[in-house]
Amino acid sequence: MTSDGALYLQLAQTIATAIRSGTLAAGERVPSVREMARQEGVSLSTVIQAYRSLEDAHLIEARPRSGYFVATRTPGLPQPETSRPPADSQAVDVGSLTSQVLRLANDPAFTSFGAACPSAELFSQDRVRRAVSRAAQRNRHSLCTYPIGGGEETLRRAIARHGLRMGCQMDARDIVITNGCVEAITLCLRAVTKPGDIVALESPTYFGFLSILENLHLRALEIPTHPRTGVSLDALQLAFDTQPVKAVLLVPTLSNPVGATMPQQDRARLAAMLSRHDVPLIEDVLYNDLAEDDDMRRAVKSYDTTGHVMMCGSFSKTVAPGIRLGWVEAGRWRDRVEGLKLATSGAQTAVLELAMADLLTQPGAEASYRQLRATVAARVDEAGRIIAESFPAGTRVTDPPGGFILWAELPREIDTFALFRACLAEHIVFAPGTMFSATDRYRHCIRLGVGGRWDNAQRQALRRIGEMACEMLQAKRPKSADDRQAEPALAG
Ligand SMILES: Cc1ncc(COP(=O)(O)O)c(C=O)c1O
Repeated sequence: MTSDGALYLQLAQTIATAIRSGTLAAGERVPSVREMARQEGVSLSTVIQAYRSLEDAHLIEARPRSGYFVATRTPGLPQPETSRPPADSQAVDVGSLTSQVLRLANDPAFTSFGAACPSAELFSQDRVRRAVSRAAQRNRHSLCTYPIGGGEETLRRAIARHGLRMGCQMDARDIVITNGCVEAITLCLRAVTKPGDIVALESPTYFGFLSILENLHLRALEIPTHPRTGVSLDALQLAFDTQPVKAVLLVPTLSNPVGATMPQQDRARLAAMLSRHDVPLIEDVLYNDLAEDDDMRRAVKSYDTTGHVMMCGSFSKTVAPGIRLGWVEAGRWRDRVEGLKLATSGAQTAVLELAMADLLTQPGAEASYRQLRATVAARVDEAGRIIAESFPAGTRVTDPPGGFILWAELPREIDTFALFRACLAEHIVFAPGTMFSATDRYRHCIRLGVGGRWDNAQRQALRRIGEMACEMLQAKRPKSADDRQAEPALAG
């Protein structure tokens, strides 16, 4: 991508953020192309390209002879409210639904909203291929040399530098390279818990976390979570005071599935609570580079002065989903995590580590995050509009400040597992709400991933989910007296 290309996306994103935050209100006039070019010190064509992409995202609209205006959006749906999970910890049994959804999400015969991963065409595939072949050529012996240790030095240094974007000063020697973020989190949990221990997490939470807890025989304590601001720290404090919580596992930026992003003052308060109670936080920063604002990227780890935060990340959602590499900086549990990693799966493939280091440090890295953010933001907006138009009245949906996941709460009468089965019959797949809790409380919810293919078939399938939900609701709700009178009387 040219630097000019990156510039128009940057401008489009600044304006999109102003629109989403309400700084530019619906119906308000947007500066003319000439005014904006002067104001931002960019060329007219950069502004025109930016405005075009905002038009495509239905965020602004051109009015003949009047200029550009912030689009008057379909009245947005309300957001879900703070969740109310039970106050007790639960044994976890998430069963086989997770693997079924993931398998179908990758089956080309299905129109899929099941996975939480951008599809291949959203990444610069040439850039990734070139980095891998360059790494193999420059390190000729690497593929035939047994890798030992916590990972290639160059990658650890690149990650430490990347940590500065999250406000963290990390020593490269403290970083351990893992097989994706899931392995990093598993190692952290193994380092700080034993079977039967209680782990506090968001509610709803990422089903992968529940699978890990189930496999390690840990109990889930789900904490009330607001879809915008994340986990309630008052509720977490109460849990610390009343239950033997052995670890906290959170995604403070763009949590999965609700997209919550914890305010900075909460992050500072959380870090202080962890040290006071001597409880580790496993902080998953996998989605930080997808957040709209730099401010949302600052990690809880950046406030940690006592080594209680174990920070885990990977590149699966932002650089190259096919390169299974993650990392962990485990604070005071560093040596234990390194030992567990060695005993569990040894080291990673050095060529891929070197290629990843190259990708992270190339000048185009920031531009590619920006492009990814802008593309998925436009989809999330469009999907939100389709949901508002086609899902049953009473539906609530999240409006996340980044990422590609939507969480919808449908009217309570709708069993989304039944909806899931009905949709499978039409070759449409999504993740039903039951996957996101150790309890059965999200049976009326669904998670929709819109990072995959995005075309008319996909839009139509999303509408179809809404229509089927409406049909289900109609079948469940008692008919009105008028409807009953209109029905023919049944003979005999
Ligand atoms: C919050 C969260 N953490 C971790 C993962 C998995 O990460 P990885 O593929 O790097 O193991 C996912 C995947 O969806 C996720 O949503």
